[in-house]
Amino acid sequence: MSALPGSAEGTAVTGLDSSPVQPAPADLPPLTEQTRLEAREIMARYPQARSALLPMLHLVQSVQGYVSPEGVALCAEELGLTKAEVGAVATFYTMYKRRPTGRHLVSVCTNTLCNVLGGQRIMDALSADLGVHHDETAADGSITLEHAECLAACDYAPVVTVDYEFYDQQDVESARELVAALRRGEKPHPTRGAPLSDFRGVSRQLAGFSQWADADAEAAAIDAPWSAGPTLIGVHLADERGESAPEMPRASATSSSGAPAAEAAGVESAQRGAPEPAGRSLADQNDGTDTPAGSEPGTSGQGPGKA
Ligand code: FES
Repeated sequence: MSALPGSAEGTAVTGLDSSPVQPAPADLPPLTEQTRLEAREIMARYPQARSALLPMLHLVQSVQGYVSPEGVALCAEELGLTKAEVGAVATFYTMYKRRPTGRHLVSVCTNTLCNVLGGQRIMDALSADLGVHHDETAADGSITLEHAECLAACDYAPVVTVDYEFYDQQDVESARELVAALRRGEKPHPTRGAPLSDFRGVSRQLAGFSQWADADAEAAAIDAPWSAGPTLIGVHLADERGESAPEMPRASATSSSGAPAAEAAGVESAQRGAPEPAGRSLADQNDGTDTPAGSEPGTSGQGPGKA
């Protein structure tokens, strides 16, 4: 069980982070009336106000750098929830931080593919350089370091993100240089996507507000150059080999019954016993499954279809 942020007396009934609550530092910027008004602006975006909780927690982080006890209380008051309910959400998701975060959040993927290609070595090197372990902040307040599960960029492994922006195909030395530059106050451009800001800035963006100074800066961030080289390798290989995917049925046309053409084509194909347009054949799909023939729901005596 873990104590909840904002609930000194409480204990968590859910959540994966069992670390203790850290008291709010004395120099924490206060949540202002402006923060409260912005929280209400977020709430107004949703038919059910409580759906706004996730971006409201990002808003709190954008001001204070973490989900502080004060932030939990503000969200609970505005949404008519208990602090325990807000805390249960905040402790479930790893993007909500329970201790003040450094100027930048550096996440090192140590999941399967990145790890095979050196993710853990990168994590160990950064940990040694910064003098911290997972989910800890360097003494100078510059960097919070964390290991991360798959960051959905396996084709660029090993990857590191800074404030959720990607730095692809890192190795120990490039990652160390990246972090050293961040500590000097530099902002190396991510491999792709928007320019780097900082953890509080990107938290504001995640809350649904622009983090950029003006419309021009925002447009430039959206249009930042990037390339998808590793992602497209398969496409280029297929092109060289003259391979192509089967054509998809046209979705725009409709059948004589009024059903979309794709649906109608699938039904008619199945009725004729024709092979599926792609993937394994129906016969193949029966091989190696965990469901013996005749034991599908409704046929085994346990499924809902059989009395
Ligand atoms: S394993 Fe690292 S991004 Fe998928």
